[in-house]
Amino acid sequence: MNEIKKRVDELTKILNEANYNYYVLDNPTITDQEYDKYLRELINIEKMYPKYAYPNSPTNRVGGEVIDKFQKVVHEKPMLSLANVFNEEELKEFDSKIKNAGFDPSYVCEFKIDGLSVALIYEKGKLVKGVTRGDGITGEDITHNVKTIKSIPLILNEPIDIEVRGEIFMNKKTLYKLNEKRKTLGLPLLQNVRNAAAGSVRQLDSKETAKRELDNFIYYLPDAAKYNLNTHLETLNFMKNLGFKVNSENKLAKNIDEVIEYIKKTTLKREKLAYEIDGIVIKVNDLKMQEKLGYTAKYPKWATAYKFPAEEVLTKLKDIIFTVGRTGRITPNAVLEPVIVMGSTISRATLHNEEYVKSKNLMIGDIVSIRKAGDVIPEVVEAKTSRRTGKEIPFKMIDTCPMCHEKLTKIPGQVDYYCINPMCPKRNIESIIHFVSRDAMNIEGLGDEIVEELYNLGFVKNIPDIYDLKNKKELIMEFDGYGEKSLNKIIDNIEKSKKNSLERLLFGLGIREIGTKTAKLLASYFKNIDNLMQATIDDLKDIRDIGEVTADSVVLYFKNNHQLIADLKKIGINMQYKGKALGSNELVTGKKFVITGTISGMSRKEIKEKLESYKATVSESVSKNTNVVIVGANPGSKYQDAIKLNIPIWDEEKAKEVLNSLQ
Ligand code: IVH
Repeated sequence: MNEIKKRVDELTKILNEANYNYYVLDNPTITDQEYDKYLRELINIEKMYPKYAYPNSPTNRVGGEVIDKFQKVVHEKPMLSLANVFNEEELKEFDSKIKNAGFDPSYVCEFKIDGLSVALIYEKGKLVKGVTRGDGITGEDITHNVKTIKSIPLILNEPIDIEVRGEIFMNKKTLYKLNEKRKTLGLPLLQNVRNAAAGSVRQLDSKETAKRELDNFIYYLPDAAKYNLNTHLETLNFMKNLGFKVNSENKLAKNIDEVIEYIKKTTLKREKLAYEIDGIVIKVNDLKMQEKLGYTAKYPKWATAYKFPAEEVLTKLKDIIFTVGRTGRITPNAVLEPVIVMGSTISRATLHNEEYVKSKNLMIGDIVSIRKAGDVIPEVVEAKTSRRTGKEIPFKMIDTCPMCHEKLTKIPGQVDYYCINPMCPKRNIESIIHFVSRDAMNIEGLGDEIVEELYNLGFVKNIPDIYDLKNKKELIMEFDGYGEKSLNKIIDNIEKSKKNSLERLLFGLGIREIGTKTAKLLASYFKNIDNLMQATIDDLKDIRDIGEVTADSVVLYFKNNHQLIADLKKIGINMQYKGKALGSNELVTGKKFVITGTISGMSRKEIKEKLESYKATVSESVSKNTNVVIVGANPGSKYQDAIKLNIPIWDEEKAKEVLNSLQ
């Protein structure tokens, strides 16, 4: 064999082994100096003889590959999330549900690592792709960055095709070190380990990612049956033997009591761990049992996440300031002395409205307790009144808009104050931001800051102005930061948005009470905006899930905004619903359903969606207005209620027969 290739192979082997021993086994076998010497030698050879550089060479670890855009990748199997439980009781319910389905499970307990999940795809044992979770269906290709994570093997111990999933994370110490450095450079600090890890893998330049010293644990094999495995524990071991870093803290629990024991022990040592965990993941060990238990649209039914309780800390309420939302609603916000809660720095918290502040008897200058649980937004729990000094300032609601200084309005019977000045700059900016946002018209490239700037420069004063930007391109380009290429892209996206289905427009208009779900419902029901604009309050109230407040709000909105809709129509914005039409079935349409117990092979959500797509309503409790109660295995008290009130009952067979006849 050629001498150069032979040396490349030798160096590759030495470096891969050294990496594995150091980063996966935590058991260094050569010194850092030796490692660097071999790595430099390999880098030099690859420079001189690029044809001998393997795509999966250990020199990838230092980064180098730069991409100009993240490619979207559709996951072969969706990347599901986990349902949460918050206490022992809920955990026991999770166990009972499995037992009620006829199983006697043992569980694997794992740390719930606070990072971001990743899918790693290997072909013939070589890492070919790393993909983020994204929305679970489509993620982003981050292969160039994944290769810099030293505990992720570039080559496996077996030349097999496999996709595994795990968590990329940043150690607590690494975050601290990075932030110390950022302080000296005057850069904004990274808020917590999860944001830091997520930001790090979303670098276009892999050299940047390499500097962030990310780590990973692998915890899931989507296609375990393909490899003749019987249990999750065996699967973890199998992945470990392939060279993956699998957490040695993972433990088998024979029953739910042992799970609780594991949680208690972990809670005690959580603080001392090198990385952040925000809970314990509990997975049914037997893979066949897992398959039989199945999945909902979002979660496996065979696993759950026990979340550690929220952490509370004390800090000072320095001020209460007011912000204006897109509907003109005024929100008081707590300005806090920055504190770290659950690994995030908190300096603001919403105080919702005047009544909320008053009910908590908050005064400016108070010492308050702040609570935060995982992803949940922080909240002010209470004022520590015993620590008052007498210097605190009572809270006073404002009566003029903090932006335009017009008098505020309060709707009788409601708690909120509104700025109703149609010229209020903040209201207008917020409504344009909302219109272009992802769940609304989804105009990529028009971020919050750009919208605000275009507004202040006078280019976009209202929603129709967005569609006129293409005629102002030359003028905008005279301002700093607007390149032709990026403007063209934005204009392209603006044009594309004209074709959106009606529900995006309805949500984007920012009609009070209309979220994405109601927008979809109205669009699918009325098919086009003209039908909707002609609907009366009663027409609207007849629709399931639409109550009086929403119906009033829709009618009022269209009464006041005829001109805007006409302008948008003239621009060429689609105002038709493009989704699937709602079906009709005499047994289902217009009826009110209640579901109790489980129907095999169908999740509660699936049944609900199917019924709703035929204009039926599904509610939580049985009343005399209920038309049908669907009763599956292990029904709850709703079954008794149905009998008492003499409501027609469909058993599993009947329910399946009807549901399966629906499209
Ligand atoms: S299992 C189908 N195991 O938690 C099973 N997830 O809240 C999928 N996570 O999206 C996940 N540690 O990003 C699993 N030991 C662990 C985990 C874990 C952290 C994350 C993961 C998931 C999220 C759900």
